[in-house]
Amino acid sequence: MAERIAPVSGLRSSRWLDAPDEVGIQNRAALRAVGLAVESGRPVVGISNTISDLNPCNSSMREQIEEARQGVIDAGGVPVVFPTISLGEDLMKPSAMLYRNLLAIEVEEMVRAYPIDALVLTANCDKTIPGAIMGATSSDVPTVLMLGGARPAPLYRGERLASGTDLWRALDDRRTGRMTDEQWESFERCYSCGLGACNVMGTATTMAIVAETLGFTLAGASTIPAGEPLGLRAANAAGRLAVERARNPIRPRELVTEASLQNALKVVAACGGSTNAVVHIAAIAGRAGIRLSQATIAGALSGVPVVADVQPIGRGLAQDFHAAGGVPALVHALGDTLDRSTRTVQGGTLGEAAKDAAPAGAAIRPIADVAGSPDGLAVVRGSLAPDGAVIKVAAASERLLVHRGPAVVFDGYEDMRARVDDPDLEVTPDSVLVIRGAGPVGGPGMPEWGMVPIPKKLAEAGITDMVRVSDARMSGTSFGTVFLHVAPEAAVGGPLALVRTGDVIAVDVPRGRLDLEVEDDELERRRAAWRPAPTPHVRGWVALYQRHVTQAPEGCDLDFLQAFAPGTETFVEPVVGRS
Ligand code: FES
Repeated sequence: MAERIAPVSGLRSSRWLDAPDEVGIQNRAALRAVGLAVESGRPVVGISNTISDLNPCNSSMREQIEEARQGVIDAGGVPVVFPTISLGEDLMKPSAMLYRNLLAIEVEEMVRAYPIDALVLTANCDKTIPGAIMGATSSDVPTVLMLGGARPAPLYRGERLASGTDLWRALDDRRTGRMTDEQWESFERCYSCGLGACNVMGTATTMAIVAETLGFTLAGASTIPAGEPLGLRAANAAGRLAVERARNPIRPRELVTEASLQNALKVVAACGGSTNAVVHIAAIAGRAGIRLSQATIAGALSGVPVVADVQPIGRGLAQDFHAAGGVPALVHALGDTLDRSTRTVQGGTLGEAAKDAAPAGAAIRPIADVAGSPDGLAVVRGSLAPDGAVIKVAAASERLLVHRGPAVVFDGYEDMRARVDDPDLEVTPDSVLVIRGAGPVGGPGMPEWGMVPIPKKLAEAGITDMVRVSDARMSGTSFGTVFLHVAPEAAVGGPLALVRTGDVIAVDVPRGRLDLEVEDDELERRRAAWRPAPTPHVRGWVALYQRHVTQAPEGCDLDFLQAFAPGTETFVEPVVGRS
C-alpha cells in the first residue's frame, strides 16, 4: 500500500498525528482521550514502565516515571507511558535472561507501531538494562536511559548487608554449621527489605555503568541510589533531554560504536564487574551490526585492573561507588585507558563529562594506584571451549588460575543439588566441578548456576574455592574461580557435552587456555554416541527462543534480531492508515 501522509512537522509522529483526514482524527482523538495535549510539532516521548510487584528492583521507580513525564511536558513534549515485560531477576525462573530478548522486542515493536519520536526507558534490574538498550538500538529512535539505582543496605549485626554476596556467604556458613537456624532466620528478616537494585557490583550496577559509558544516560546519573531526591531531578532532566533529542536527534547507533563498546568492556573489567555484562555487550553490538570477536573482547579486557573497590571483590557498596563520583570519576580514574571521544546522548563526549570528576572517595582508585594488579576479567579458549569462556579473574583464587584436576560432572542444576553435598561424592579440593546443560539452549536462558557450591564435606574442611567450569552464567554478586559461558554449550554438542567424571581439565588463565585432556580418538567416539537431549518446550516463547538463540559469544540474542546481514539493520516503518 502506498504511503498516504507526508510528515508535516519533521517528527516521526507526524505521520500519525498531522493528517487532516479520518486517520489523523482517529489518532489524535486516541491520545486526547487519555488527556494528552496533542499539537503539531510537539514530540511524543515514550516512557517505558517496567515496574511490577514481581520486580522489587524496578519498583523504586514510580516517582521517577512521573518526574520524567513532567520533564517531557516542561520541555514542550507529549509523554506517553507504556508497559513492557518486567524482568525481576529474583523470581523469574529459570532466569530473567530467558526473557531479555522479549523485552528488547517489546521496546522495538512499541516504537514501530506507535507515534513515538524519542524514548525514556526505565531499567534497573539486571536484564532490563541490556534489553532496553538492545530494543532502543534496533528501533534507533533517540533514547535516554533512566536507572533506578541500588537499594539501601540493611544492617545485620551492625554490618551493611551486600545484596546476593552476603547471602552466598551466609549459605556457606549455614551449610557448614557456622550459622544457627535462629541466625539464618534473623538474616532473612534483615535481607528482605528495600526497593532498588542489588547494592554491590552485580549485573545491575555493572550494566548501569555500561549504559552510561555507552552514552545512554545523563552524566553521573546511572548510579544514583534508589530513593535519593537527586534521582527525581535526573528523571525530570531525562524527560527534557528526550524532547530535545526528538528535535535534534542523537540516535542509539551513533552511541553504539566499536569504540564505545570497547570502552564498555574496559569499564566492566575496571569495576570487577559482572561477567554477564560481556554477553550483554556482545548482544548490544549485534543490534548495531557490530560483530565483537572473542579476540576483540579479550583485547579490550586485557590489561585493565580493578579500580573500583566494591563488593563482591572489594569492600564498598554501589552507594559508595556513586559517592566517589560514579561513572565520570571512573572515566577520570581510567585516564587514557578509554577512548574519551565517544558521544553521549547529552551531546558531548565521555571525556568532557569526566573532565573535572576526580574520584572523591576510596571506592574508586586512580589506575596508577592499582598498576600491576590482576586484570578484572579474562577470556580463555581451548579444546573445552573452542569459542571461548569468561572468568572474573579478580574474584578468583590466584593459586587456581593455573590448575589441572579431575572433572566431577553434574548434568544440570537438579543433578548438582542432588549430589553436591552427598558424603559419598568422590571429590577433592583439586577436582574441577563441571555443570552443563545450563547454556542458552540448555538452560534454557543460561541461568546463573555457574558458581557451584563447594561440596559440603570440603567446605566443612575449610575449602573456600575450587575450579568450576560451566556453560551457565553466574550472578554478578558471586565470586570464586569460575569459568563461565563455555561455548559452544553442551546442549548443542560442544566439547563440554563429552566430558566424563574423572577426565582431566586444565586451566591456564595467563595463557588464556581451558582444555580437556582427553585423546582426540576417544573424543570422536564419544561424539559419535552423543545425542541432544529432547526439549520439553514445543510451543510459545521458549520454543522460539531455543530455535533461534545464539551462543554466548554472540550475546545470546535471537539470530533474526541481530543486524549483521545486509538489510537487517533497517527498521521498517509501518503503513499509517486505518487500523
Ligand atoms: Fe534485581 Fe539484583 S535481583 S538487581
